[in-house]
Amino acid sequence: MGPTVLGVPQEPGFNIRQRGLRFHKMIKGKLTYLRPLEKADLPVLIKGLNAEEVMWHLGPHFPFTERQAEVWLERLNASEEGKIFAICDKKGRVVGEVSLDRIHHRNRQAELVIALFDPADWGHGYGSDALRTLLRFLFEDMNFHRVQLLVHEDNERAIRIYEKLGFVREGRLRDENFRGGRYTATLLMAVLAGEFKGYSVTGRSRPGVE
Ligand SMILES: CC(C)(COP(=O)(O)OP(=O)(O)OC[C@H]1O[C@@H](n2cnc3c(N)ncnc32)[C@H](O)[C@@H]1OP(=O)(O)O)[C@@H](O)C(=O)NCCC(=O)NCCS
Repeated sequence: MGPTVLGVPQEPGFNIRQRGLRFHKMIKGKLTYLRPLEKADLPVLIKGLNAEEVMWHLGPHFPFTERQAEVWLERLNASEEGKIFAICDKKGRVVGEVSLDRIHHRNRQAELVIALFDPADWGHGYGSDALRTLLRFLFEDMNFHRVQLLVHEDNERAIRIYEKLGFVREGRLRDENFRGGRYTATLLMAVLAGEFKGYSVTGRSRPGVE
């Protein structure tokens, strides 16, 4: 018998690697798509999160080892409170990650972190597109009510994309972050379903229907 997927025979020439990738293109944006981040992505994730410029914006940490990242991913994937997505460009290259933590089903809310791994990819629209795509999914399909995040006050590029999509500044945490020998402030920002500025204009059609 030829190859099968979930017991279903596949046509000749079927390539399980390509088919796997297609199954994974679950949440599509214009410039990016989001898919679950897998163990195989960990080397890219570790390199990205340990990069000096990325670490500066996320907050310094002891460099991740592969084992630590593996444990972290397993714990996150096993929990109902967390989700992590790889941000891929249209060619399938992993350019970053966006994660949800503290998902609370009764309050319909979560905390979000986004990072593009290579500074060369910053400023090309990937971050805005990935965030808009995830928020559309959360608000239009998953019925979330609120998404919040923390951002360093001097991270103007990140604040710009958050405000563009409807996040508002809810609080300023003084001296919250120590970095480069001094304390800086952190902003608490959040967007409610009614404030999100990235809704699909006409609603999305059924997948596969143009
Ligand atoms: C923050 C991040 C996700 C943004 O993604 P991105 O792809 O670089 O951003 P985009 O290209 O989609 O949009 C950047 C916007 O900021 C603007 N911008 C760029 N530099 C800026 C600056 N120094 N000050 C203000 N705005 C700036 C751009 O003009 C653009 O706005 P526009 O679409 O209105 O022109 C990405 O830069 C990143 O991962 N940075 C490192 C990690 C990080 O800071 N994560 C956030 C932690 S809270």
